[in-house]
Amino acid sequence: MSVSKAAPKGGLEGIVAGDSAIGYLDGEKGELRYCGYLIKDLADHSNFVETVWLLWHLELPNKAQLEELRTSLLAERALPGIVYDVLKTVAQHQEPMDALRTAVSAMSADDVPGEVTDRRSNLRRGIRLTAKFPTIIAAHERLRQGKKPLEPRSDLSHAGNFLYMLTGEVPHPEEERMFDTCLVLHAEHGFNASTFAARVTAATLADLYAAITSAIGTLKGPLHGGANTAVMQMLLEMGSVANVEPYLDRILARGGKVMGFGHRVYKVMDPRALILKDFSQRLAKVKNEPRWYEMSAKLEALMKARKGIDVNVDFFSASTYYYMGIRPELYTTIFALSRIAGWVAHVLEQYGNNRLIRPEANWIGAAPRPYVPLGQR
Ligand code: COA
Repeated sequence: MSVSKAAPKGGLEGIVAGDSAIGYLDGEKGELRYCGYLIKDLADHSNFVETVWLLWHLELPNKAQLEELRTSLLAERALPGIVYDVLKTVAQHQEPMDALRTAVSAMSADDVPGEVTDRRSNLRRGIRLTAKFPTIIAAHERLRQGKKPLEPRSDLSHAGNFLYMLTGEVPHPEEERMFDTCLVLHAEHGFNASTFAARVTAATLADLYAAITSAIGTLKGPLHGGANTAVMQMLLEMGSVANVEPYLDRILARGGKVMGFGHRVYKVMDPRALILKDFSQRLAKVKNEPRWYEMSAKLEALMKARKGIDVNVDFFSASTYYYMGIRPELYTTIFALSRIAGWVAHVLEQYGNNRLIRPEANWIGAAPRPYVPLGQR
């Protein structure tokens, strides 16, 4: 029996796993494009709702299309009773990412039945999910704090309404715009782990809710979306600029990973990180609290000098959200709040040209052998 095949590098590194027209990454040049548009152009000129349309339709919307999507998202912000009840039940028992995963599972109970792969039905489901993510995350957070969840406000933008539901205060327009741009930056990133998990689930012809639940579970880990929470926990533990270097020395001495650094695809600086670094620096000035930015900048320089490794998207998003007054435990859910756009886009693409995703393993186990009855072992 010859079953051994050439094993790829671990973690499917360098493997092209399918075609896609959604997110393009060039890790050597540090380039990211959504449907052909540079991420910097989208960050400067677009907004989250427009980006959602772009990712789902592969073209920028005209005015009427944008307005239609905005209105549909507005109409879907409130939570069905079943989801609210589930959140109340799990609030004290589940962390934010776990509660989001549970709530999305519960959302399928409240949806009308429909063809699993039907594009129109899935666009409608995508709108439901995208609109309700902010309400779920904010409601869970407030329930955890022993506060009453706030009703979504229809006079606020997608980003502004989320910050309002979380804090009870309407954000400053500049902060609202910055947060909206953070959502644009995190919306899509090719065949990253959570998106790939969503596609694998969709490829079995399981429904969109199942695919998004898989994706949320996958985003949670600290090697993926969980890193932004871990970055802020690290900065809080360091506590001061003077402590950055000894803290880093201790991690590197034990061969540990520094959260917010390194990337499977980017060999140079992640273009999103440059924008987020600027946000963190600007907020440090506005809030008159330079510490978190200065610590981050020092750690960035030390890691580059010692290991030659650049920051990734999670590094400066951590201090940016912290300056906005958001608790670190929520950062990965904010990633999900944005990445839902990319996940839905990829599930639509997968259903549009589906084939079961089913790779093979390189055999490293026992040689063929006869079964040994229990009494002879
Ligand atoms: N801190 C310290 N060393 C790191 C590192 C980090 N954050 N990221 C990579 N390295 C080092 C590894 O130790 C390894 O060194 P070695 O070859 O001497 O053993 C080398 O760089 C390659 O790392 P590896 O983990 O094999 O790369 P990967 O492509 O499998 O992993 C990540 C990519 C993102 C998972 C990895 O960089 C990481 O764990 N980063 C921290 C978590 C994080 O920020 N995740 C968010 C990603 S957007």
